Amino acid sequence: MKILAGNSNLPLARAIAGYLELPLTNADVRRFADDEIFVEIHENVRGEDVFVVQSTSAPANDNLMELLICIDALRRASAKRITAVLPYFGYARQDRKPGPRTPISAKLVANLITTAGADRVLAVDLHAGQIQGFFDIPTDNLYGAPVMAADILTRSGDQDLMVVSPDVGGVVRARALARRLNNAPLAIVDKRRDKPGSSEVMNIIGDVAGQHCILIDDIIDSGGTLVNAAQALMDEGAASVTAYLTHGVLSGSAVERVTNSALKELVITDTIQPTAAALASPKIRVLTIAPLIGEAIHRIAEESSVSSLFD
Ligand code: R5P
Repeated sequence: MKILAGNSNLPLARAIAGYLELPLTNADVRRFADDEIFVEIHENVRGEDVFVVQSTSAPANDNLMELLICIDALRRASAKRITAVLPYFGYARQDRKPGPRTPISAKLVANLITTAGADRVLAVDLHAGQIQGFFDIPTDNLYGAPVMAADILTRSGDQDLMVVSPDVGGVVRARALARRLNNAPLAIVDKRRDKPGSSEVMNIIGDVAGQHCILIDDIIDSGGTLVNAAQALMDEGAASVTAYLTHGVLSGSAVERVTNSALKELVITDTIQPTAAALASPKIRVLTIAPLIGEAIHRIAEESSVSSLFD
């Protein structure tokens, strides 16, 4: 088994390799003067089971292209099996046509990864479970919930907790976390989004007064969804609001928004390499997902169950 890292999130790739007690594959992923990407693998991979770790986070197109070129290099070097490990799958939110004459870019990206030569995909908290079906190759979707639940129970297990979904689409995810928190009660924020990048909170379904709320979502991008939801929960009398998000996209002034928000704390994972600004924020904490991905890779290589990781 070999682990090849793209440049999108080297600390995570190193941590995964560390969990597996393997060195990263000796390779160069670099740019020519005109910005074209070039990959050179400096060790034999013929007949190997290779896992390419690359989040297609910002700059999404560059990181995606790096992934595709790494896969191509491995295929041409006769790797036996290539697994695209996508801790964060960028473009996932473009999973349906929002209007006439618009693309379904998540499907296009899935086609590109498959055509480049990937035999399998390993992703974390896909924006929607059905994106697995966009790939016509085996696709495992890992859940961050066990990592989050362990952290919540360690830090706040003795409090009255209420799990809150920041929109109707996230209820299944919120219910799964609530089950892991000794069946904590659930509330839902009824959010209406007027246009991408802005959101408006409409209503809260559930009595959150006096509760320590745990907001859970897959992605924080501009921060609008989360910050508005936190404010609405505090306005309804919540005792505190802490948020757990798998993918800290944190674009634009999101870090500043979070830092100045009603949130007690935002906990993200390292599927996307946190920026210096995120690490410096007194309200943002990062949990590592490396052992979870490392264990899933180990199980895929050994051909044992991945789903039992979440029993
Ligand atoms: C939407 O369905 C996602 O689950 C997130 O709620 C959304 O992408 C967050 O975006 P933002 O932080 O820009 O509100």
